[in-house]
Amino acid sequence: MTYAALTGWGMYVPERVLSNADLERIVDTSDEWIVQRTGIRERRIAGPGETSATMGVRAARQALDRAGVDPRDIDILVVATSTPDQLMPSAACVVQTELGAVRAGPMDVNAACSGFAYGLAVGTQFVRSGTSKTVLVIGTDTLSRFLNYQDRGTCILFGDGAGAVVLQATDEPTGVLSIDLGAIPNTGEMLEIPGGGSAHPASPETLDQKLHYMTMQGREVFKHAVRAMGESTLKVIADAGLTPDQVSLLIPHQANIRIIDAMAKRLELPMHQVFVNIDRYGNTSAASIPIAMCEAQEAGLLKRGDHLAITAFGGGLTWGSALIRWSV
Ligand code: UT7
Repeated sequence: MTYAALTGWGMYVPERVLSNADLERIVDTSDEWIVQRTGIRERRIAGPGETSATMGVRAARQALDRAGVDPRDIDILVVATSTPDQLMPSAACVVQTELGAVRAGPMDVNAACSGFAYGLAVGTQFVRSGTSKTVLVIGTDTLSRFLNYQDRGTCILFGDGAGAVVLQATDEPTGVLSIDLGAIPNTGEMLEIPGGGSAHPASPETLDQKLHYMTMQGREVFKHAVRAMGESTLKVIADAGLTPDQVSLLIPHQANIRIIDAMAKRLELPMHQVFVNIDRYGNTSAASIPIAMCEAQEAGLLKRGDHLAITAFGGGLTWGSALIRWSV
């Protein structure tokens, strides 16, 4: 049997901090409301010239350095993003050029905030099937460029960033042990960026109607997220032949502290076994889990052999979870 060991991890967040106090000056909101209802205190915003691809490259270089992998040895390069630099070419093609990953097959995967779980699933399959030896998976999003800073229901939630992992073939039973992906039919309109695609190509009308901005039915998405992430996490734990008490760390997508609390209760995990950094970054979409993975490792919360559960939920409405045995 071949497994996909997770041998490198890296992250990047832009320098510019947008605090709740800053948002109070832009839109009718308060630090108190944002902290109580979401757990967010500040988020990072991409600077001029920064894009999903440039941030992804920064995260990827760190991950490759850690793994000791030369970019020329990457076989497959997966970029999970719903905010590529442009519709064509893919963000992965831009990253490939920047990194000098000349042999890599580049592809984007779009599952919005669940994207990293999907990218990890795709990358793992390439390795486990014997097709590829080395895969780079990046989760990166620049949602600040698609937010309406007059809509307090969305603009306070999201931040920009990128995270990356390197997967390498091994005989040892490690890396992703089980995966669960899915989506709830007929919920696309609950969280969407309607304009700029083939349904509503960019035009003066789409601009007038603000179709290039994200819209969300927050309360509905919240309810679906709690249920889907809870069920999906229990499924990947069971599919890996484990029980929740054998999971040493849960990394949930960082969308709302109240969703994260509900997840912890559902799995009966004490909060010190649930990773939280939403206070500093807000919701970074496809980047939230790989960024959290890096910070959890840095904090000494992930040791070789530990069982880590990741779970995410987002536009689609998609969900994605995985049970990972930490490899290094
Ligand atoms: O990663 C992708 C998945 N996304 C998510 O998982 C997000 C899920 N949803 C959420 O996190 C929450 O639904 C929100 C944080 C978006 C909203 O929190 P909520 O507790 O569901 O609030 P609500 O939408 O039910 O609104 C409650 C009140 C409303 O006022 P009234 O009608 O009760 O007077 C809103 O207008 O809070 C008001 N409100 C705000 N007030 C101050 C909504 N946003 C704000 C705001 N500041 N930013």
